[in-house]
Amino acid sequence: MSSLSQRPADPVVGESHAHESAALHVTGTALYTDDLVNRYPGILHACPVGSPHAHARITGLRVDAALGVPGVVRVLTSADVPGVNDAGTKHDEPLFPVAPPADRPGTPGGEVMFVGHAVCWVLAESLEAAREGAAAVEVDYEPLPAVLTLTDAIARGSFHGARPTMLRGDAASALRTAASDPCQRVMSGTFEFSGQEHFYLETQASVAVVDESGQIFIQCSTQHPTETQDIVSHVLGIPANAVTVQSLRMGGGFGGKEMQPHGYAAVAALGAVLTGRPVRVRLSRAQDMVMTGKRHGFHSTWTVGYTDEGRLTALDVTLTADGGWSLDLSEPVLARAMCHIDNAYRIPDIAVHGRIALCHRTSQTAFRGFGGPQGMIVIEDIMGRIAQDLGLPAREVRRRNFYRSGDRTPYDMPVRHPERLEAAWDQVLDHADVVAREAEIEAFNATHRDRKRALAMTPVKFGISFNLTAFNQGGALVLVYKDGSVLVNHGGTEMGQGLHTKMMQVAATTLGVPLSMVRSSPTRTDKVPNTSATAASSGADLNGGAVKDACGQIISRLRTVAASRLGVNPADVRFSRGRVTALGVPGSLTWEEVVATAYSQRVQLSASGFYRTEGLHWDASVMQGEPFKYFAYGVAAAEVEVSRFDGSCALRRVDIVHDVGDSLSPLIDLGQIEGGFVQGAGWLTLEDLRWDDGSHDGDRGTGRLTTAGASTYKIPSLSELPPVFNIELLDKAHEEGAVYGSKAVGEPPFMLAFSVREALRQAVAAFGDAGEPGVGSGVGSGTVVELPSPATPEAVFWAVQRVRGLRSLQPVSS
Ligand code: MTE
Ligand code: MOS
Repeated sequence: MSSLSQRPADPVVGESHAHESAALHVTGTALYTDDLVNRYPGILHACPVGSPHAHARITGLRVDAALGVPGVVRVLTSADVPGVNDAGTKHDEPLFPVAPPADRPGTPGGEVMFVGHAVCWVLAESLEAAREGAAAVEVDYEPLPAVLTLTDAIARGSFHGARPTMLRGDAASALRTAASDPCQRVMSGTFEFSGQEHFYLETQASVAVVDESGQIFIQCSTQHPTETQDIVSHVLGIPANAVTVQSLRMGGGFGGKEMQPHGYAAVAALGAVLTGRPVRVRLSRAQDMVMTGKRHGFHSTWTVGYTDEGRLTALDVTLTADGGWSLDLSEPVLARAMCHIDNAYRIPDIAVHGRIALCHRTSQTAFRGFGGPQGMIVIEDIMGRIAQDLGLPAREVRRRNFYRSGDRTPYDMPVRHPERLEAAWDQVLDHADVVAREAEIEAFNATHRDRKRALAMTPVKFGISFNLTAFNQGGALVLVYKDGSVLVNHGGTEMGQGLHTKMMQVAATTLGVPLSMVRSSPTRTDKVPNTSATAASSGADLNGGAVKDACGQIISRLRTVAASRLGVNPADVRFSRGRVTALGVPGSLTWEEVVATAYSQRVQLSASGFYRTEGLHWDASVMQGEPFKYFAYGVAAAEVEVSRFDGSCALRRVDIVHDVGDSLSPLIDLGQIEGGFVQGAGWLTLEDLRWDDGSHDGDRGTGRLTTAGASTYKIPSLSELPPVFNIELLDKAHEEGAVYGSKAVGEPPFMLAFSVREALRQAVAAFGDAGEPGVGSGVGSGTVVELPSPATPEAVFWAVQRVRGLRSLQPVSS
């Protein structure tokens, strides 16, 4: 009997293989949901009618003019919903804001809650006709007061849901002690940082059809097919067994397709039921940016105590997430933020308070890291400031605070294997030649007035599993056909992260067949039911456990079949790469021979598998427990060069050592680490979400998202990649109790990008060190650089101006 984490001899897991669809991706032939449109003759196209107000009551809705537009077939409104008019799981997200009945105009209707909120949807023969129809719909609004910023929400007490608190020890008295202790210091701050647009290449898309059996079949770009199925069944008022959802593959999800696709799928399904024709909903880039939820921006206030050596003694922090108009996933995102406020650091006395602001904006949602980045940025910001306040090297201050063996997190979970973080840290120090390069940087800075360099190292400790214990389950269906070929279906979805590739490697390893015999099929709710979202990076852990379970059942049956043919004990049979052998017996059988024999003996060749993560518990009421199976660790060193003329930054070199356990698929993991890091650097240094909240011209603002396209919202591209980008996987990192000893990789590397932000902070400080004559005071160690997030070139420019003492040049409000 092999355990979950133990590998057989010569496993297919651990080999580097290209992504299962790599050839299709790079030749542009991989199909995505919206590519299927021309497979459905007579399909209708949908276009929303969006609210021009951030907050208003609907007092009238007239669709006749739209129905007069050639090609328009139907307008879907709240009156059409046969079941529950809700697109979420919290019952605070009407699919259609309720319109006043047509025969009683002027009756108060439902509310629109953000600019772009869909009031109704027009279905037409072409997208152009649907757009024209949408423009012809007449809606009357009574504008209502809107909350347009986080600070405004906090000032007005505009909050959603619960306000959790996480406590260990007594932070208040520890901070008082710190204030009166001559060997300690206390610092306070307020830090508000921005959210992030997912900018998946494929926008939200659904195609719905009522099939020949009366089943609603929905092709949907969704990370959570089961929940899409649930919402559609609620909206239509029919049981789940009448709805099938397929997620073919996604052109990126990044969390933005965990909860957000459901409403669009429901609109398509409702349209298909009411018209009897297939319906396609696909958002344009601008619609997607205006309508769908983003990473939560946060506001934080904190007070921290620390010793003269830079050791943390206490922290009191309040995190306020911008939830947007409805709850969506804001509660679990906040919980994960609170669980990652410590990152890799021991904080003896701590109080963490969480709140979710209700703002009249898109409903913010999951985004790679799921709140983890928003917790960690606060402590990394604090660490960077403490180091500058004390005039100590930031990497020393960070390291001094690392968790040690035996430590527990603020939510009372033991920190297992903290020595792996130390090992990764040392490996980066060594392989990236950090000490020598720091000396070179110092020499460079001493001789350059207008450009400064800096190198920063930051750690990541990220908890793997869903905080909510119930979600930590996975399912699979593995079919072996008579010819020996294998079809794997599992509950996870493919969004480019390579989950299917890993699952095929797991199946090939467990069944002992070559990878070429295994095929993976698209995710469907009629093959594996009741699945969890492919999220929290746990796709491979959960579905890998289930695939291995299913394959294990098949192998134990085939072992008996092979044993009788080879004349040995079943326990002595080995399956490896298509050859079936037995210890101490010459000769062998092929996989195909064993499968054919099993079929003729009427032995079942398929199995459904199941996995649940053991040992988890979480009490959300007190924010305590062991919500995570393990921690994923990583360390990055980033070197930047900043120009004082325009604040521009060149990322010169990045070195990463990341812990993926025993990798299931090293090439896939490498891609995840590169992509995650770059996406994180985008969040922290480039991507600048701007809303018209009146902050520029001092009026009340309209609440409109002003960065609703690639022309105004800059995401990282090839030109932002560091010319030197070294990534190593941590050695000897076998994770006991996880599938084939591997660890999750999808999200943790995102947070390695704090190294870039912290390097920027240090580079900015170096401009102060220069102490140029005639440009102000010149500031050395002891200068704490306040860096906004995102630290765009503009923000960095002004930060440089501040440390150079050129305060008169600062913009009035920034
Ligand atoms: N990688 C690619 N290429 N595209 C994506 O959309 N999503 C990320 C990460 N890596 C994503 C990605 C997010 S948010 C998560 S939670 C994980 O992949 C989900 O997949 P996994 O659980 O299989 O790692
Ligand atoms: Mo990822 S944010 O958990 O989909």
